[in-house]
Amino acid sequence: MKILVTSALPYANGDIHLGHLAGAYLPADIYVRYQRLKGRDVVYICGTDEHGVPVTISAEKQNKTPREIVDQYNRSIEESFKKFGMTFDNFSRTTLSVHHRLAQDFFLKIYEKGLIYPREVEQFHCTRCKRFLPDRYIIGTCPKCGNEGARGDQCENCGHWLEPFELIAPRCLICGETPKKTQTKHWYFRLSQFQDKLSSWVADKKDWKETVLTFVRGWLREGLKDRPITRDLSWGVPVPLKDAKGKVLYVWFDAPIGYISSTIEWAEKKGKPDLWKDYWFGKDTKLVHFIGKDNIVFHALIWPAMLMAYGDYVLPSDIPANQFLNLEGGKFSTSKGYAIWLPEYLKDFKSDSLRYALTRNAPEARDTDFTWRDFQVWHNNELADNLGNFVNRTLTFVKKYYDSSVPKASSLTERDNRILDLLKKAPDTIGKRIEKFEFKGGLQEVMRIAQEANRYFDHEEPWSTRKKDPDACAKTMYVCMNIVASLSVLIEPFLPSSAEKIKKMIQPVPHDWDEIGKPEAVRAVGEPSILFEKIADEVVRVQVEKLKKETVDLDYFSKVSLKTAKILTAERVEGTDNLIKCQVELGEQKRQIVAGVGKDYEPGELVGKTIIVVDNLTPAKIKGVLSEGMLLAVVGKKGIVLVTTDKPVSSGTAVR
Ligand code: 2FM
Ligand code: ZN
Repeated sequence: MKILVTSALPYANGDIHLGHLAGAYLPADIYVRYQRLKGRDVVYICGTDEHGVPVTISAEKQNKTPREIVDQYNRSIEESFKKFGMTFDNFSRTTLSVHHRLAQDFFLKIYEKGLIYPREVEQFHCTRCKRFLPDRYIIGTCPKCGNEGARGDQCENCGHWLEPFELIAPRCLICGETPKKTQTKHWYFRLSQFQDKLSSWVADKKDWKETVLTFVRGWLREGLKDRPITRDLSWGVPVPLKDAKGKVLYVWFDAPIGYISSTIEWAEKKGKPDLWKDYWFGKDTKLVHFIGKDNIVFHALIWPAMLMAYGDYVLPSDIPANQFLNLEGGKFSTSKGYAIWLPEYLKDFKSDSLRYALTRNAPEARDTDFTWRDFQVWHNNELADNLGNFVNRTLTFVKKYYDSSVPKASSLTERDNRILDLLKKAPDTIGKRIEKFEFKGGLQEVMRIAQEANRYFDHEEPWSTRKKDPDACAKTMYVCMNIVASLSVLIEPFLPSSAEKIKKMIQPVPHDWDEIGKPEAVRAVGEPSILFEKIADEVVRVQVEKLKKETVDLDYFSKVSLKTAKILTAERVEGTDNLIKCQVELGEQKRQIVAGVGKDYEPGELVGKTIIVVDNLTPAKIKGVLSEGMLLAVVGKKGIVLVTTDKPVSSGTAVR
C-alpha cells in the first residue's frame, strides 16, 4: 500500500500561527513520521496556495504586488515549518508552471466532458474602483448573525457560507462604495450532477470523524448546487478558453490540484518523473487530507467531485479535519493581530514544547483553547519533570556508576516484567491510536510510560540497592535503559528533536517502530544533557502581556484609508448645536461629511481648510444626514482642534 498524505496548502499571504499548526499541519507530521517508522511507503505533500483574493487583498493593503507577497510568505512559511520540525517530502508553490498547466488541463478535460459550462450572471461591480468584485472584496452584514464585517463568501463570526447578494448593506472592501449588480459571464462546475455519486461514496466512510460526516451529510441533504469556478481577477491561473479573457480559475478550483502538481514536482526532483502516477493513479493508494474544519466542504465534496469528473485519479480515503484552536479564550485573528505566530514563537521557545502542548490539547473532536499558563505547566510538569527527568536520572546514574554500560540482566522480577510488557505492547497500542488520528490519546499513552517508568525507578531505589544488592541495581538500570531506548522512538512522531537528543545519548537505538520493546543491553554514550529546561513564570508573563496589549499590525492599520480633503462648503445641521455638514473634495471625488465640531468652529472657519479624513469608513446617517467619512481631530482640554496639513497638499492624497 502507498500512503499519500497532504496538509492544506496555506495561503502565501501571511505567516503560520498556532491555530493553523494545530489544525492541518502538526497532526499530519505526527502521522507521517509514524508511518515512516513503520517502514511504510508514505509521501507527504504540501506547498503554498499562492492565488486568489486572500493574496491580492494582502498585496493591495501592503502596497505590494501579489508576486512580492507570495515570494515573501512562501519563503517564511517554508522556513518556519522546517524549524518546527515538519517533514514534507515536497513543499511546492501553486504559481509554478507545472501547476498552472495541470490546473488548466483539469479545467479543459472537465469542460470537454460538459461538466463545466458558462452562465450569464449578475455580479457586484464597484463603479469607483471600476471593476467586478470577487466575493471577498465585498463586506456587509451577515443575514444569519448580524455581524457587520461578514465577507462575501463566508461570515467568520457564525461560519455561515453565503453569496455576496445575501449580505445586508454590501460595500466594496477597498473603497467603501455600495457595489452595483452588473451582468457578466462565469463558468460553473456541475456539482449537482455528483449528488448521487458523492452520497454513495460517503456512505462507505463510516470511520470518518463524526464532525466531518455530520457536515458532509448536511450539505448532501440540502442538495448540491453548481458552483462558479472562475473569477474576474488578474492574479491566478488563466481560464484556458478563448472567450474567457481576464478571467482566472477560482482559487479553490486550482488549490487542491496543487496536491498533485506538488507530487509531480517531487517525482521530478527525485529523477523519476513518472513516480507520482504510482500514487495518484494507483489502486492501493491511501490518500489522506489533513485540514481544518473550514476546509471540509472543499475536500470532502467539491474536490472528490472534481476528481470523479476528471476520472482515473484516486479519491481521498480519509479527511481527518480538526476543529479550531482558540487563544486565551478568544479567536485567532490575523487582521487584529491576535495570534501567536510561529516565527515569533520559535525565537523564544523550542519546537517540541509547542508540539507537545498542541497535541496534548488537540482540537480533535471540539474546539480547544491554548493558554500560555497551560503551556508552561505542561512543559514544566510533564515534559521536564516526567519525561525529561526519567531520561536524565537514568542516563546520569548509568554514566556515573556503570561507566555508561549496563550488562543484560539475567533474572527479572514480576515488576520488571510488568513494565517491560508495557513497552512490548506500546508500539501496537500507540500505533493504533495514531492510525485512528487520535494523536492526543497516543501521546497520553507515551507519557503514561514515562510516568510508570519514574514510579518504577522510585520503587526500585537503585541509589540504595547499588551497595546493598548490586545485581538488583544492575537489573533495574538495564530495564530503565530499555525504557529510554523505547521512548526515544515512541516520542519521535510527537517530539522529534527530543527523540533525536536521546538517540545521541544511547546505543543501540531501535530503528523502526516494531523493534520497540525488544530488550537488549543499551549503553549510555556521551554526556547526558537536560532534555527540557524549565520555563520561568516571568517568561510566560511577558507572552501573556504581549497578547493583552491591543496591538494592531501594519496589515490591520493599513485597512484604514486616510486621505487629505479640502472643505468646499459647510453648514450647521438643523436642530443640533454641534454638527456641521461639510461638502469636501477628495481629488476628483466629492463627499459629504458630518462632523461634530460645531461647538468649536463656525462653518465659515472651516471652508478652504485641508483636513485628514477616513476615506473608507462605512457610510452612516447622523441625525438623518448622510456622512461618508470622518475627519480627524484632536480632542484637547480646551475643545476640538482639527488635524490639518503642515504645508499645502492637494486633496485626495493618501496619508501614511
Ligand atoms: O484555507 C486555506 O488556507 C487554503 N489555502 C487551503 C487550501 S487547501 C488545498 F486545497 F490546497
Ligand atoms: Zn471600490
